[in-house]
Amino acid sequence: MHKKLVVANWKMNGLSADISAMLACLQKDASILNQIDLCLCVPAVFLNSMAFLSKKLPISWGAQNLSDKAEGAFTGEISAAMLCDVGCRYVIVGHSERRQYYGENNQWVAKKWLAARQSRLTPILCVGERLEEHEKGETLAVVLAQLDAVLNLASSQDFAATVIAYEPVWAIGTGLTPTTNEVLSVHTALRAHLIKQYDSATSQTVRLLYGGSLKADNAAQLLTLANVDGGLIGGASLQYDTFAPIYKALI
Ligand code: PGA
Repeated sequence: MHKKLVVANWKMNGLSADISAMLACLQKDASILNQIDLCLCVPAVFLNSMAFLSKKLPISWGAQNLSDKAEGAFTGEISAAMLCDVGCRYVIVGHSERRQYYGENNQWVAKKWLAARQSRLTPILCVGERLEEHEKGETLAVVLAQLDAVLNLASSQDFAATVIAYEPVWAIGTGLTPTTNEVLSVHTALRAHLIKQYDSATSQTVRLLYGGSLKADNAAQLLTLANVDGGLIGGASLQYDTFAPIYKALI
């Protein structure tokens, strides 16, 4: 059994003082944090200081995006090797905001995923349907197509021990969440798809997160469902008082 994985996605929020304040609060929870895997995905400019700032805290950190290219004349981009160099363990790939606002499609996301994996970062692949797709009953078709784009490039060895986050787009930042049955059915389908593609042992090494309007009052219910191995948290991860109850619900 894995420890549950809790990932904070700060998006384009916070300054270095906010990170220091969060880490000072997390320090008080060190014994709880030993029982889970916690990763802070802070804005890229702050990643270089995470090793120093997080001192001996049992946490890891990650980026919210990376380039699909290894190096070269790509102004403004950040490579997987650079993220490794500043101690990142994880990188979010294919978040719906990247897909929606920056035109990332399934093929591009798959290339980024592979670039991360080749540098031994653990990619957190975000999949999820938009509201109109949800209403048309297309959820499974959409999330499995997003996953298949990566599976087409990845061997079972590449895919082992990576992370998939199911984040319905309509649940992100809206206060809306799917029912427990909807989350169960998507996560069961993702697990079954991995077993079909690879095998049961490989499938079990992949952690399946739920994300989208996770809060203190729904975390215990959603994050303890079968095949839910943790959560990806946006808005509620920005303040200790709203973040801590979420990971404490998992202990
Ligand atoms: P939210 O965001 O928790 O604010 O809904 C989740 C995410 O975008 O990863």
